[in-house]
Amino acid sequence: MTSNYSSTGIERLIRSDLVSLGGYVASKAPETLEGEVEVPVEGIIKLDAFVNPYGCSPRVNQALATYPYLNIYPDAGQMELRKLLQGFTGVSAEHIVASGGSDQLIDLILHLFVGPGDEVINCIPTFDIFRFRTQMCNGKLVEVPRDKDFAVNVDAVKAAITKKTKIILLATPNNPTGTITPQKDILEIMDSGVPVLVDEAYVEFSGETVTQLVTQYKNMMVLRTFSKWAGLAGMRIGYGIFPPKIADYLLKIKLPYNVNVAAVVAVRESLNDLDYLMSRVRAIVAERERLFEELGKLKFLKPFPSKANFIYCSVLNGNAREIQQKLEKKGILVRYFDIPLLKNALRITAGKPEHTDALTKALREIGEGISG
Ligand SMILES: Cc1ncc(COP(=O)(O)O)c(C=O)c1O
Repeated sequence: MTSNYSSTGIERLIRSDLVSLGGYVASKAPETLEGEVEVPVEGIIKLDAFVNPYGCSPRVNQALATYPYLNIYPDAGQMELRKLLQGFTGVSAEHIVASGGSDQLIDLILHLFVGPGDEVINCIPTFDIFRFRTQMCNGKLVEVPRDKDFAVNVDAVKAAITKKTKIILLATPNNPTGTITPQKDILEIMDSGVPVLVDEAYVEFSGETVTQLVTQYKNMMVLRTFSKWAGLAGMRIGYGIFPPKIADYLLKIKLPYNVNVAAVVAVRESLNDLDYLMSRVRAIVAERERLFEELGKLKFLKPFPSKANFIYCSVLNGNAREIQQKLEKKGILVRYFDIPLLKNALRITAGKPEHTDALTKALREIGEGISG
């Protein structure tokens, strides 16, 4: 039998809307840079992807080293996990659903609400997974630009709502700008009755949450993650807080074993070591403030205030991509952007004090080569 693939090309068989889909640009794993940078892989300073520089709680490593039940599937109903998260958030377990990273829940929520042609309001520039996964659902993106300081334009969001609007996506603090959306703005948008997803991936660094409001509203959903504050990005643990009916639907449509057993152990041990982890969060917040000040001293950069664990800065003089590449050569990874709403800009994660020192030294050297 001849295969369709060889005679027609695989594009004839896969979904035509996915052939042209723009993918998501993920951060580089340090090991892929071996030989391309001037330092050994272990010496790479990773400030491009929100990595917690202190790692996870040592209790997680200890517990995983002796965990005996890797041969058994996790509980599809996530009972232990949801109870642990109930204790942590103060919201009862019926509101909670966990996932392999909060990006998995973004995907699941969009699949729950959005079908072909349904509208999704997205306050750009923002986390690109929102665009990516909406397009995977064949949803129609209704993009509402933020203002010049990256605040959400509440009136424009309300004006963009139509009968076809299925969900409004709001990241606070926003990635990549670090901007907070105040609770009063969120509530004003929620008054429309349209489901609102408030993505609080960086909430532990901002201290501002609307979690407690979920129990009062039928249209509010809040997303959180263990990736950033708990140093567990590699373990992939996110969760959301939902009205119970939405939680039930998400539990119904998710893949059964979407959070692995090691992740459950990691959550348990992290929550047993909250004092340690929160002291690290405070250190990162202090370093974010110092990073902001240090970047502000460089004439070719304009950092924006941030409530997350990273700083967004415009490059006023010079080229963001070239700066990013020069830093990469020196073994310091940062993220650059050059798209219409994020023109010639860098996003730099707050690391340890020595990371800030190495970065600012390298930036000063690069700055000497920028004329003007
Ligand atoms: C706003 C926002 N939401 C969600 C995520 C996803 O985090 P994770 O899937 O690691 O939980 C990120 C990570 O970059 C983010 O910036």
